[in-house]
Parts: sequence; structure tokens; C-alpha cells
Amino acid sequence: MTSWQNQDLQQLQITHLEQLLTRTRTLLAEQGWNRLVIYSGHAHPHFADDQSAPHPGYGHFLHWTGLTGLSDSWLEITQDHPPRLFCYAPEDYWHATPTLPEGALAQIMRIEPIKARGWPLEQVAEVGSTVVVGDIESLSIPVEKSHCNPRSFVSALNALRIHKTAYEARCTLEASRLALMGHRAARDAFYQGGSEFDIHLAWQKGTQQSESDAPYHSIIGLNEHAGVLHYQHYQNQTPQTLNSLLIDAGVRYRGYCSDITRTWAALDQPRFAALINGLDQLQQKLTQEVKPGVDFVELHDKTHQGVALLLQASGLIKGQITTEAIVETGMTRAFFPHGLGHFLGTQVHDVGGLETASGQPVPPPQAHPALRLTHTLEAGMLLTIEPGLYFIDSLLASLRNGPMSQHLDWSLIEALAPCGGIRIEDNLWVTADGAENLTRASDHGLGVGQPEV
Ligand code: GLY
Ligand code: MN
Ligand code: MN
Repeated sequence: MTSWQNQDLQQLQITHLEQLLTRTRTLLAEQGWNRLVIYSGHAHPHFADDQSAPHPGYGHFLHWTGLTGLSDSWLEITQDHPPRLFCYAPEDYWHATPTLPEGALAQIMRIEPIKARGWPLEQVAEVGSTVVVGDIESLSIPVEKSHCNPRSFVSALNALRIHKTAYEARCTLEASRLALMGHRAARDAFYQGGSEFDIHLAWQKGTQQSESDAPYHSIIGLNEHAGVLHYQHYQNQTPQTLNSLLIDAGVRYRGYCSDITRTWAALDQPRFAALINGLDQLQQKLTQEVKPGVDFVELHDKTHQGVALLLQASGLIKGQITTEAIVETGMTRAFFPHGLGHFLGTQVHDVGGLETASGQPVPPPQAHPALRLTHTLEAGMLLTIEPGLYFIDSLLASLRNGPMSQHLDWSLIEALAPCGGIRIEDNLWVTADGAENLTRASDHGLGVGQPEV
């Protein structure tokens, strides 16, 4: 354990909030505002219905409060008063009302309960220099439109979320630890012959997290479903033959998300297990390269070279062809069509990965449109490293009909395609001279591929 992992969580949160307050005040002064108001957001009912999707809270509101259970609440930050948190806690006998926060939040902020929805500041002196961020489109507030979510301000606010404090890393470490209990339970349910739905229940029981509190919809795919990148269903029948499980699922802790993927092979699928182990070795090599100064686009390119080598070593690509040619002809893109990783925080795909602090877009290279992170890495960044290798019919079809077809072992592809695909995903915090792998720090030998006997 390193020192930041041992420190008192409340003290870490106070330091996080003090630093955030200083930085936000500097930003307000730089951009000529006197007051920032951040709205928590609220649940939106479905069209012509009284039911709503769960509301996790706006990322910037969570950056300050971590309180996913609040809606219709507001945070006010000024230069000269302590921040004020207006918590919507109505008289409501249909629902449980939120309890007011204590601890570090109550030390740094004034907590004021509000009983009515809507703008909480009765009379706003100098409304003209108030900037408001959040989902306020449908609300009537006494602030002119151009002061609501101004792009340059939101980009600068996003930039404040790129470097995580020790408190944020600690929350993500805990979110990882809780997720790994679910991953262990999911793995066991798979080897006991469970359906996707059984595995989903095992995951929820293992994490003690309900579906609506999860940072994203857990991806639980058996067999070919492991090759659907964001597979969204849970079949309640176990397939006749069980070949593989890909589970990509995370937990939220104090607002912070983990995002972890593991892939498992059935015991009678040794070739697929070997491929998982090969991808795991590549993933671990990449995680060891994560440190300040590394260009993430270059690391993504390196991943393609690693995937090319793995395709050759496993016999999926054969004959006289160089690694460079495999990458340049787009063969690796057919097997690995997503990005190497993304920022992680109060949103699972956290903000700021594709823009500068002044809001200039930094788009991914044309050849890799799905890459969500184009920065050079710096200490404090928190990100995922998630290489993959999949058998996706539509992408393989373009290879089969293309000039490189002869280099592929189609009978091996057909033998492995019923296993769907592989993704191995960990969460890392960049340090001064390397990175801490928050996932492997607490996986207690969970492993990948097949369970150790
Ligand atoms: N869970 C979605 C992703 O890995 O980015
Ligand atoms: Mn994921
Ligand atoms: Mn991810």
C-alpha cells in the first residue's frame, strides 16, 4: 500500500474539496465571473409517461459532492463565502427523502435543505456575473441564456476533472475492489453453468449494488455475445454449449466509477484460453508503459502492433507478412475496433479526453475514430487500459473479401468465433513516474482466461 491509500478518507476529501475550491475560484476570476451555480440535474420522465430513467447526477455536481442520490439540488460557489449546497429534500410520503450530508462536505460547505424544486437563490445580487452549469434547459431561472453552460467555461471546468486527487483515486480504488467481488462471483457462476441472467444476478449479489446504481449497464456476454462490444441483453437460458464469458462491469463508490472487464474460457477451450492469456500479457505490458509524457495515441498504435503479433503467434494470421503490414492494411482494426482506453471519474467515459483546457478539439486519428483519449499522459490522470480482440462477422467479412484474405487462417477463425471475443480492462492512476493499477491492486489473484486449479 502506498501512503495515499492509508490516509484517512475524510481528510483526503477535505483536501480534495479545498483544492477544487481554490482552482474553481481562480477559474471564475480568470473568466470574469463572480459566482458559479452547478445544478445536480433531475430525472426525465419518458415521453407521455410518468416513469423516468434513473438519474445518476451531473458529473460536475458529483465532482464536488459525490452524491448520486440527489436531484433538483444546487451548489453555489463564490469568491468570498463558503460554498452552499442546496439539497432538495421535499416532504414526500411516496418516496424516501435524502438525508443531508455530513462529514467533509458539511465542513467545507453550508448545507441548506430546500423543499421546492427550482432556482434556490431568492434574490441574486449581480446576476449578471453568475455562470450556471447543468441540465437547466427545462427550468426557468433568472440568468440569461448566454451565461448558462458557456462552452469556454465548461471546457475549463472539464479540464479541472482531468487530474484526479488522491481522494478520487481512493474512491476509484474502492469502486474497483467492490467490482472485483462481483467479477469473482460472475466467474464462479459461469463455471457453474449459469445463463447470462444468472451471471448478472451473481454480479449484483457480489457487489451488493443494484442495477440502477451502477455506473453503466453491465455487459455480460456468453459465447458469440462476447463479440458484441456493448452487448445489452441477459438471456435467461444457458446455451447448449458454453464457450466463453466476457463481463465488463463496474461499481460506483461516492460517485466514482470503476470500469473493469474480464474474459473467461470454458475448460474445453484451451486455444481460446491461450488467446486470452496472450491478450492479458499485452494488456499488462501496456499498463506498465503508462506514465507521464506518454502520448496516448502512440500507445494505442502500439496496441495495434501488439495485437498484430498476437494474431501471428496464435496462427490466426499466417505466411510472410510483417507486423507493420498487418497494422497498415487495417487487419488489426477488424479484430480490435475500439479505443485503448478513456478517462474515468464521476462519469465512466469521463470528460476532457478529446479537448484542450481551452476547448480546442483534439480529435482521434481518422483511422481510429473510436479512440476517446488523445492526450499526452500526465500525473493525476485516471484512465482505463482495455485492449480487445474479437470475432465480429461484419468486420471479418470485409477481410474475407479483401486482398489480405490469404493471410488469415479461416478455419481457425471459424473454430474460435463461437467464443465471441476478449477484452481485458483495468483502471489506472498516473503517478509522477509511472502508474498505479487500481484494479490489479485488489484483485487477489482473480486472473483471467481460466481459473487456476
Ligand atoms: N464499459 C464501457 C467501456 O469499457 O468503455
Ligand atoms: Mn468497460
Ligand atoms: Mn472502458
